[in-house]
Amino acid sequence: MTTPIEMKRLTKRLAAYSTVDSRMRKLTQDAITLSFRNEPVLITGDTGTGKEVIATILHGTRVDNITTVNTTAVTDTLFESELFGHVKGSYTGAYCDREGLVASAGGGTLFLDEIGDMPVTLQAKILRLIQFGTYRSVGGDRMLKAKCRIIAATCKNVPQLIEDKLFREDLYYRLSTFRLHLTPLRDRRHDIHHYLTNHKLWFDMTESKRTHFREYADNEPINGNYRELEQIMLRYEVLEEMPALTYALKNKVLEVS
Ligand SMILES: Nc1ncnc2c1ncn2[C@@H]1O[C@H](COP(=O)(O)OP(=O)(O)OP(=O)(O)O)[C@@H](O)[C@H]1O
Ligand SMILES: [Mg+2]
Repeated sequence: MTTPIEMKRLTKRLAAYSTVDSRMRKLTQDAITLSFRNEPVLITGDTGTGKEVIATILHGTRVDNITTVNTTAVTDTLFESELFGHVKGSYTGAYCDREGLVASAGGGTLFLDEIGDMPVTLQAKILRLIQFGTYRSVGGDRMLKAKCRIIAATCKNVPQLIEDKLFREDLYYRLSTFRLHLTPLRDRRHDIHHYLTNHKLWFDMTESKRTHFREYADNEPINGNYRELEQIMLRYEVLEEMPALTYALKNKVLEVS
């Protein structure tokens, strides 16, 4: 039974993902259903399509934060310690016991971002974590139990990575029982229009500017997806809107002096 507070939490997370595309609506509904489950989910899609936003929806009604692990951000050795923690003296620099991200995620979500870039050696440890829900801290001698739910995301083509021996096939099958794939914006032009025409700046734009953006939405490849749209709107705000503001400010300064 979902409480009103939990519903509010989920609704807030849902509000960050707006779409008029029927495939993405279905995907959002699936994400809501899966948010009430604990199985791992793999989110795939090009850069900037909203994988992290979908991960937040999958986090659903949970209270704790999502613990994001950027698998590209750390080296091999440090990654294991970062994720699973370490015991004092287990390697040079391990001056005290330290708990890892799996432990600090508690009963929340552990989000393995860019899992396609994870070194193969570490993938074996992630597989164990998913399969048995257990892990061992670096230098530790007993297995610990994880309570968190795992969500992974990648913009890479995982079957291709498997072929190139860069991704474990068994891990892929474990992860992809529930896979949510985000279609790039170039294949859903009406979502580009939807984004632009609902943007706060759209309402104050001149008709010629709107035409310019409509043409952009229809003809550009928009490979950066939502991130690219955010950037063009920010550029518009700073370069087209701000000069008016700075002009007003300059006049104010001149009035004072
Ligand atoms: N449906 C949407 N409507 C509006 N903005 C969106 C939508 N989906 C994503 N965004 C925005 O686009 C930006 C990129 O989203 P996000 O970080 O989730 O993408 P990503 O797929 O994880 O990208 P990357 O692969 O580069 O990590 C964010 O600022 C997010 O708020
Ligand atoms: Mg991301």
